[in-house]
Amino acid sequence: MNLDGARVLVAGATGVLGGALTAELGARGARPALAGRDPARLASAARAHPGAPTVTFDAYDPASCARAVDGAARELGGLDAVVTAFGSVAFGPAAEVGDEIAEHLTAVNVLAPTAFFRAAFTVLGPGSAIAAFTGVVARRPQAGMADYSASKAALSAWLDAARREVRTGGIR
Ligand SMILES: NC(=O)c1ccc[n+]([C@@H]2O[C@H](COP(=O)([O-])OP(=O)(O)OC[C@H]3O[C@@H](n4cnc5c(N)ncnc54)[C@H](OP(=O)(O)O)[C@@H]3O)[C@@H](O)[C@H]2O)c1
Repeated sequence: MNLDGARVLVAGATGVLGGALTAELGARGARPALAGRDPARLASAARAHPGAPTVTFDAYDPASCARAVDGAARELGGLDAVVTAFGSVAFGPAAEVGDEIAEHLTAVNVLAPTAFFRAAFTVLGPGSAIAAFTGVVARRPQAGMADYSASKAALSAWLDAARREVRTGGIR
């Protein structure tokens, strides 16, 4: 994808990787929109990108993920790419990690990114792209990270299947 002038929504722009990605996009001439959970952190991240729109979302609220996509598309006059760079990590033996932790990881690392992409498919056109930070654990699950590994593998599987569905429409 030619990034010069590309309209890219970065969900999780307040994080380390999301911030680095947004900076790189800006350096390559893209027009980023920044999405984040915390309004103050989002405003702070946006200071490095004058004029870039910001939208808020919470991974626990899939409807807010869809609203973030629609809001960014409205502000930028469309979108050429949507990237999810947010996530949650957890460590611990599989037998000791509680159900509530597993539920948390599934909500943040699987259901929220897929909510972003479902909404993205309604606004992206030919030549556009979606991308997600999954992690090496998606392909090489690690001991002490079973539930985290499973959440990233689930997102990766979803992306593999969705890619086959949308490529005929020119979305990578
Ligand atoms: N760092 C690594 O070495 C590495 C390696 C492989 C994969 N990854 C993956 O890459 C992604 C980003 O990692 P990172 O190191 O940049 O993490 P980070 O600096 O801790 O940033 C995490 C981001 O996720 C957001 N977030 C967390 N919970 C959220 C929620 N409930 N709703 C909305 N946003 C939420 C945070 O928002 P707030 O600013 O509001 O907290 C922040 O923007 C993660 O998915 C991680 O698993 C990281």
